[in-house]
Amino acid sequence: MRIVFLFLAAVSLVTACGPMPGDAGKATLRQVMADTIEPQSALVQDMTFELYDDNGELDPRRLSTSHWDVIEQAGKDLEKAGRALARAETHKVTAEGVALQGADAEGAATPEEIAAWIEADHDGFAAEARKLAGAAQNIVVAAQLRDAIELDAAALSLGDTCSSCHNQFWYRQSE
Ligand code: HEC
Repeated sequence: MRIVFLFLAAVSLVTACGPMPGDAGKATLRQVMADTIEPQSALVQDMTFELYDDNGELDPRRLSTSHWDVIEQAGKDLEKAGRALARAETHKVTAEGVALQGADAEGAATPEEIAAWIEADHDGFAAEARKLAGAAQNIVVAAQLRDAIELDAAALSLGDTCSSCHNQFWYRQSE
């Protein structure tokens, strides 16, 4: 049971301190990623992992009702954040003086470069954000149905949407 409370605590922390998902106009992209998308996605991935029994089989009974509810809420938050990113007309990458994760790594893109890539392909960025929202929507439905197989598939495709967007707009290969 303790693990459930830990997860619930994590969720309410995120909800209390994070930017409102529908507020992407004000929150920077970095905040949306670090405060909402990353923790909620980690929660979904961790809980999905819990569904596997010792034989590597998916078993929906391994999650309690409150686990499934937490997954459903995380899916809803991710969907909202994805839709807000898709809708936003402009994106501020980060606040003045707030470094991006991995900024010190060799060849890391600067916020200015990221902003320029997004601006140059606004529709492409929105399409990637809609992919995230779509995968998140499947997570919500799977959680509502307590469908372990669908959740597993949706969690996998959620992870694909991260790398798909990051490859184009965060750690793009230099041309
Ligand atoms: C629509 C595009 C898009 C999608 C989808 C997306 N990201 Fe991002 N993400 C970005 C961009 C652009 C950056 C680089 C700017 C930055 O560091 O915030 C980034 C940065 C990040 C960061 C670093 C934040 C920081 O402190 O600098 C994390 C963590 C992250 N993403 C997690 C995720 C996860 C997890 C997913 C999938 C569940 C995801 N992202 C999906 C565009 C996206």
